Amino acid sequence: MTHDAIAVVDFGGQYAHLIATKIRRLRVLAEIRQPEDATELFTRYKGIILSGSPSLSAFGQDSAYNTALYDLDVPILGFCFGHQEIAKHYGGTVVHGGREWGPADLQLIGDSPLFAGLAPVERVFMSHFDSVTSVGPGFEEIGYTTLGASGQSHRFAAIASPALRRYGFQFHPEVDDTVHGDEMIANFVRGICGCAPSWTMERYVEERVEQVRQQVGDQSVFLLASGGVDSTVAARLLGMAIGADRLHLLHVDNGLMRKDESRAVLEAFRAFGLDRNLHFVDASDTFLAALAGAVEPEQKRTIIGNTFIEVFEREARQRGIAHHLLGQGTIYPDTIETGGTKRADTIKTHHNRVPVIEQMIAQGRVVEPLADLYKVEVRELGEKIGIPHDLIWRHPFPGPGLGVRLLCSTGIERRDGFDVMQPAVAAVAARYGLTAMALPIKSVGVKADLRSYEHPVLLSGDAAWDTLLEVAGQMFKDVSGINRCIWNLGLVAPTTARPLPATVTRARLELLREADHLVMEGLRRHGIYADIWQCPTVLVPMEVDGRGQEFVIVRPIHSERAMTATPAPLPAALCDELRAQILALPGVSGLALDVTTKPPGTIEWE
Ligand code: XMP
Repeated sequence: MTHDAIAVVDFGGQYAHLIATKIRRLRVLAEIRQPEDATELFTRYKGIILSGSPSLSAFGQDSAYNTALYDLDVPILGFCFGHQEIAKHYGGTVVHGGREWGPADLQLIGDSPLFAGLAPVERVFMSHFDSVTSVGPGFEEIGYTTLGASGQSHRFAAIASPALRRYGFQFHPEVDDTVHGDEMIANFVRGICGCAPSWTMERYVEERVEQVRQQVGDQSVFLLASGGVDSTVAARLLGMAIGADRLHLLHVDNGLMRKDESRAVLEAFRAFGLDRNLHFVDASDTFLAALAGAVEPEQKRTIIGNTFIEVFEREARQRGIAHHLLGQGTIYPDTIETGGTKRADTIKTHHNRVPVIEQMIAQGRVVEPLADLYKVEVRELGEKIGIPHDLIWRHPFPGPGLGVRLLCSTGIERRDGFDVMQPAVAAVAARYGLTAMALPIKSVGVKADLRSYEHPVLLSGDAAWDTLLEVAGQMFKDVSGINRCIWNLGLVAPTTARPLPATVTRARLELLREADHLVMEGLRRHGIYADIWQCPTVLVPMEVDGRGQEFVIVRPIHSERAMTATPAPLPAALCDELRAQILALPGVSGLALDVTTKPPGTIEWE
């Protein structure tokens, strides 16, 4: 069956995914489309949403897109940048200026169906540089905002042309700070576009099972099963579709797993009855040999992705599994982020989308039953098809495993601009009674949707959790070139830091595995594992003691779909225990907690 669906045009990754997730919660299928996609790709939708973008200005170079969309006879709603584009396209004016940021009160005018059921004044969230100052023929203002005590008002915060069925919101209804944003989105999707709520998980299972049967025919499927949520749910769904006999699971120990992970994964598969054709290979030598000497994160990811396929093909041959398709637990963001868009250079390569896999996909040799789902939906589906609760709610673990948490370095120091940066970071920290040092390494972050490589700052001293977050926020605002703040858990405040040359080695992986194990055990011991969305432990080749020993960073976060994140506090007792345990590991002399939100930092360090 085909479902009523909405296209979300992706002008800014995080926002587009958030909008799509919210629409799907209404049981209406939402799919991400790229601004340059051909018009034919939009004809199946009952409505289109143009997302906002933190980086695009209506006056920018990158803002080109397929404006033939406006010729389609379906309702179109734009948010922020999308709102300004709609206004402009239909003869309105947009000016550079009129910046608003943060909460504002939206005063509604008239009785637009977009605001059905809402109060005359609604709290909304603003984040824009450009503003609409007039609308073209047929358009009307259906809301303006007033800001705080000043009562200053911004016109054209919501516009509509009921005849053309074109609408725009200057604010972001998809973020939680817009209190009734979900209702506004529902009014558009269900009311104005008339989408029926048919996209349920039950239907998804039925449809996917049928599709897999058709795609696989009488062949078998050989699934790379890491033991994570996605591949386990994929295994179960494939089993439902083609039966256990034709489903082979291959668990590869790539040397980048957590401590005792492979043993635990194999036990869980057995306990869960997924062991009819369960295969295991310890391929850590192959992976480590392939990674020898690699330093750059993207290079490491590509090597890991390619080596998975090499090992997979070799194992299939050796185990006599002929006429098989490759199964993967790929989920929706992975497929979108590798869509070959104009902005693809800004997003990391996923190990399950390296070129050799893209070729296999083109030949119809890959089966990915979860490729349309977000993580939260995979979990919902997993619960529905009987995957044990603990397995479903394990923290997400990146496909390349500890490979993205074991930082490597040529040892070259990055101190450009430090003469200005060091006094600036110290001054911000001093206002809160802390000391601070910009570190001579670069770490990955996101800025206005682009991946950025900037310096982390190490904060030392005693402070309450909220103060730490405030210092970090202030640091990002006041000092350019900074994308992370970490808080020293060591006993002394380091005064020097130097990167060390380092690559992927078994010894370094063992060290990271131990540190990660201590952190995971600690979270469980203190009963907070389930409250925390994910908690990477990172080994950074940086010495702070002049003795050539490395630095460990722990990054507990709260998140919903990994597009944004806030640092999660750890109990003081756990910090004490980790200090004692991790600093006692041979080869480690520094420990810090990452107190950075995403953005500007990413969740992982690579
Ligand atoms: P970032 O670091 O981009 O992470 O904020 C967002 C989510 O994606 C996971 N992640 C990865 N997953 N291959 C993966 O399969 C990768 O290279 C990779 N890098 C990040 C990360 O763990 C988080 O859940």
